[in-house]
Amino acid sequence: MTNLILLGPPGAGKGTQAKRLETKYGLVQLSTGDMLRAAVAAGTETGKQAKEIMERGDLVPDNIIIAMIAERIDQPDVSSGFILDGFPRTTAQAQALDGLLKFKGRKLDHVIELKVDDEALVERVSGRFSCAKCGASYHDSFNRPKKENVCDVCGATEFKRRADDNAETVRQRLSAYHAQTAPLLPYYEAQGILRSLDGMAEIDSITDSMEKVLG
Ligand code: AP5
Ligand code: MG
Repeated sequence: MTNLILLGPPGAGKGTQAKRLETKYGLVQLSTGDMLRAAVAAGTETGKQAKEIMERGDLVPDNIIIAMIAERIDQPDVSSGFILDGFPRTTAQAQALDGLLKFKGRKLDHVIELKVDDEALVERVSGRFSCAKCGASYHDSFNRPKKENVCDVCGATEFKRRADDNAETVRQRLSAYHAQTAPLLPYYEAQGILRSLDGMAEIDSITDSMEKVLG
């Protein structure tokens, strides 16, 4: 069983790589962003609280996020190992995760940081679209489906774009990353489990580097 965190700014490639590792290693991707978008679409209480905050590019309050993850991580499919994508994002979330895992007798094996220049991120995020069925992530110029309008992973033919993927919101998401999430890098470095990879490399070569880390 392997438990890992993918850490990096908006557009770093966390979702893209998580989907690949999920298939290859039988791990489960836990994306708090995907969970929140599902809650917004379903109109739940959490969704109502999160919608405007996400559209502004700010972080949703820790208590909402921690409750969401605590419930998800208890489900049986996660027992074979997880890839956290977009969580934790604050020191309070990282501490809550440590507490949850300790309680369950589990531990984190790796925290993989994807480093990408700020200018590249805005371009990546504004060209992004994803499969409406399985969530696989694509890009107008960098990563189109092999067959036009057909998802490489599941064969679906419908795609969607995110409400927060515009240049202005991306800048706000980036500044939230630098102010609130980047401090987690020294936190995990101190635990000896942080690996930093060049997120500017080709998608395939980043997957190769991750596979080396996972062994
Ligand atoms: P979330 O959904 O987590 O978004 P994010 O962190 O902003 O990250 P993205 O999903 O935009 O980027 P990614 O790293 O997954 O990149 P991707 O692989 O798609 O969060 C959204 C919002 O929800 C937050 O702003 C916040 O409001 C709220 N939220 C979520 N979690 C929270 C938490 N824990 N606490 C509080 N609030 C929370 O790739 C991007 C694009 O680039 C794609 O088009 C892809 O094809 C392309 N690409 C990927 N890799 C490469 C490469 N190597 N080269 C070229 N192109 C590439
Ligand atoms: Mg993502």
